[in-house]
Amino acid sequence: MRVRILGAGIVGLSVADELIRRGHEVTVVDPAPGSGASYAAAGMLSPAGEAWYGEEELTRLCLSSLALWPDFAARLGVPVHTRGTLLVGVDAGDVQQVERQLSVLDLAGVSYERLVRRELLAREPGLGRVAGGAFLAEDHSVDPRAVVAALLDRVGDRVETDTVADVTVIATGVNLPAPYSSLIRPVRGDVVRVRTQEPVERTVRAWAHGEQIYVVPRIDSDEVVIGATTEERDGPLQPTVEGVWRLLDSARRVVPALDRASVVEVTSRDRPGTADNLPLVGPTHEPGVVLAAGAYRNGVLLAPLIAQLVADHIETGSVEPAVDPRRFRMKEDG
Ligand code: GLY
Repeated sequence: MRVRILGAGIVGLSVADELIRRGHEVTVVDPAPGSGASYAAAGMLSPAGEAWYGEEELTRLCLSSLALWPDFAARLGVPVHTRGTLLVGVDAGDVQQVERQLSVLDLAGVSYERLVRRELLAREPGLGRVAGGAFLAEDHSVDPRAVVAALLDRVGDRVETDTVADVTVIATGVNLPAPYSSLIRPVRGDVVRVRTQEPVERTVRAWAHGEQIYVVPRIDSDEVVIGATTEERDGPLQPTVEGVWRLLDSARRVVPALDRASVVEVTSRDRPGTADNLPLVGPTHEPGVVLAAGAYRNGVLLAPLIAQLVADHIETGSVEPAVDPRRFRMKEDG
């Protein structure tokens, strides 16, 4: 098949890579590859850390995609940081939130290790004011910018301005064209990248006086990503003083050595959210138009699964019901 993919973020490029592997003729259209949400993403592969009430189906999809990551990363030659994730709470209310999250994991059948403060500090001596938490052994991370660079290498000169195709896959993140734009709600996230000589050993996800933040170290690098605000708004794509202050204030309580880190980048991007927080992957009411969109908070994690689902759909017509875009009416449908 001749397939045109609109969007060269991590999702569009993963779809391109999968289709090329399967022998299809692929072109990718994007004036600025890798510059959307993939550019801001911390790269957590974190089904357990992201699990929440009412999102059981999403957790199931995230776990399926996590299982694809070892082969996917090996194919791309990108390392996966496999030291797991600490989920911590700063005060008693935060520990209650952690406990709620652990109840969600119990219902999903995901295992974890509950840890008291002393045990948390034994795992991560750099932790500051934490009252309790848990170890999520299977929640890993990758560097999304390295993933995008590796995918662009593999897709090579197939990134073009436009082309003729049998099938168009729309993977333009938060900017879906009409009539699909109404299916996406932008959820703003500010992210801070720092350099430090005292990085944490593993990802720390924290509830800090009601704020949710994460601190994600890189393998063999002094870069640490501190994220992320979650704001249901759009407007100019500029980090706000308030957003960055809240992130840094919470992060330095959880990992006090971050006070000595150098700030190297502050980024703001919109997550492509949907009305039910599940992605939009599969056919539309337009023949030959397929969506690979709406990955919301899990674009990096879900990329290999979305790639498989899109390629399977193009080849066999199969559709995963939970993510079928036709579950929503488009505005133009009336
Ligand atoms: N996956 C983390 C975030 O969206 O902030």
